[in-house]
Amino acid sequence: MVRTHHSTTPLLQHSNLVTIMRHPSLQLLSHDHHHGLALALRCRKQGLGQIKPMGAVGLRERAKEFLEFYRASLVAHFKAEEEILFPLMRAQVAGCGELLDQLVRDHEQLRLAMPQLEAGTGLAKLIFDLGDLLERHIRKEERELFPLFESRVEAAQAEQLGAKLKELLSPVN
Ligand SMILES: [Fe+2]
Ligand SMILES: [Fe+2]
Repeated sequence: MVRTHHSTTPLLQHSNLVTIMRHPSLQLLSHDHHHGLALALRCRKQGLGQIKPMGAVGLRERAKEFLEFYRASLVAHFKAEEEILFPLMRAQVAGCGELLDQLVRDHEQLRLAMPQLEAGTGLAKLIFDLGDLLERHIRKEERELFPLFESRVEAAQAEQLGAKLKELLSPVN
């Protein structure tokens, strides 16, 4: 089945409703982004002591939650982006190299922070910073990268990409 892939309008590129009108091939990634943004907000608030339980107990809860999300979703998500989406974009979309480099650096920074999160030291600053980094990273993908994909990647290739992402990211029952 051939689907058109011009499903967004410029207005929606700046919407906070990240999953609305997203190209079908990107929906699994956007689904993770949706959960990631909610977690990022909780982390920033926890780091600032704005949600209960406050103090060390709450920080440990957020650290555990972040690590679980990382293991359950982000490991495969980063792999799918780095091995499937980013190479396709690099090959097909002129001028997005710098953005892709920046996104890979964000992934690396998040990966490198996981041992520190496990160690559980300096959690208030770490949890806030990770929430901030994760949110900025997701916004860059949703507001800059995905609209480029939708407007510049040809339909057949977008379809192929969607199938590969599904293989990597769909939960196995
Ligand atoms: Fe990413
Ligand atoms: Fe992503």
